[in-house]
Amino acid sequence: TTLHLLYGGKSAEHKVSLQTALAVTKALNKDKFNVFPLFITEEGQWVRGKQLTGEVESVAQLQLTDKGTSIAPLALTEVNEQTDDKPVIFPLLHGPNGEDGTVQGMLELLNLPYVGNGVLASSAGMDKVIMKQLFAQAGLPQVGYVHFLRSEWEKNDELAYKKVEEELGYPVFVKPANLGSSVGINKAKNREELASAFKEAFDFDRKIIVEQGLENAREIEIGVLGNDEPQCSVLGEIVPKKEFYDYKAKYEDGNTAMIIPAEVDEQTYESVKEMAIKAFKAIDASGLVRADFFLTRDGELYINEVNTMPGFTPYSMFPLLWQHTGVAYPELIERLVQLAKD
Ligand code: ADP
Ligand code: DAL
Ligand code: MG
Repeated sequence: TTLHLLYGGKSAEHKVSLQTALAVTKALNKDKFNVFPLFITEEGQWVRGKQLTGEVESVAQLQLTDKGTSIAPLALTEVNEQTDDKPVIFPLLHGPNGEDGTVQGMLELLNLPYVGNGVLASSAGMDKVIMKQLFAQAGLPQVGYVHFLRSEWEKNDELAYKKVEEELGYPVFVKPANLGSSVGINKAKNREELASAFKEAFDFDRKIIVEQGLENAREIEIGVLGNDEPQCSVLGEIVPKKEFYDYKAKYEDGNTAMIIPAEVDEQTYESVKEMAIKAFKAIDASGLVRADFFLTRDGELYINEVNTMPGFTPYSMFPLLWQHTGVAYPELIERLVQLAKD
């Protein structure tokens, strides 16, 4: 099989994507797969590189800016002619312009099979407001939330803050509607923090979501894999050693604990699995999602979100969950490629 790894990208999660691409490149069996790199720069330039045959040791080798050929994204169909078999595209992109259905739509137009979620699931999973509306319709429990457009806030910010205070009360979490890796997210405990959290979130998006903040809740995650009949992994728990699981805690501190399997009772495990499958179906997912939950100290379970292209290094939650379920990293990649062809 010819595989084109698509990574980098224009979003604030560019660096995360590079880590993912390095890990996947290393794990791929080069006898089984003809692996080609397709790098998207932070400016959105697409660069195609030569087939990866030997070992790739660093992210720098995958940053093809001076080593590859710039192509227009639509020139991707040319990859068809290089080999006999139909190539599979593996988007290893996180965030807007990659995980949000835009790239998936282009691949549909080009008639190329690709790994992971389709257009609808990707875009619905990227927009936290739309995602929550679909989850609500599926009967999934969630924390209270309100959302705002930048234009509304610019017109009357006081009114927006009042709405948050009246409908939710402090603390709240303020998030750009479309992003990931906790970029642009802040917890606010008073009006002053709320105002600065709004400002930061609106730096990243024209739409933001404000959620009722849970105190002391456990963060439980589960992997879902498959197409029409998805399977669930064991559960994992995230224990950040700070106020919440922010960007630094995810990628820089190195002292966030991941507990796999998470210690929960049988009934909670069953509920998480059931809710994760409901969430997968609510956005019409395919391939994979990682579903993230909050479990309060009194046993209340809320869905937080699903990620349609979760962090995917061998040290990331999704692959670790599958490893503990009996699917090792290289096999997980092969399963995803197979699911793309099914
Ligand atoms: P992202 O899509 O960037 O991962 P999340 O919605 O998962 O954003 O939020 C990032 C982190 O912020 C969560 O992992 C959790 O630690 C914290 N968090 C988010 N929302 C809430 C909430 N409503 N209550 C408590 N903690 C929250
Ligand atoms: N958005 C990051 C990569 C995650 O969900 O793991
Ligand atoms: Mg998250």
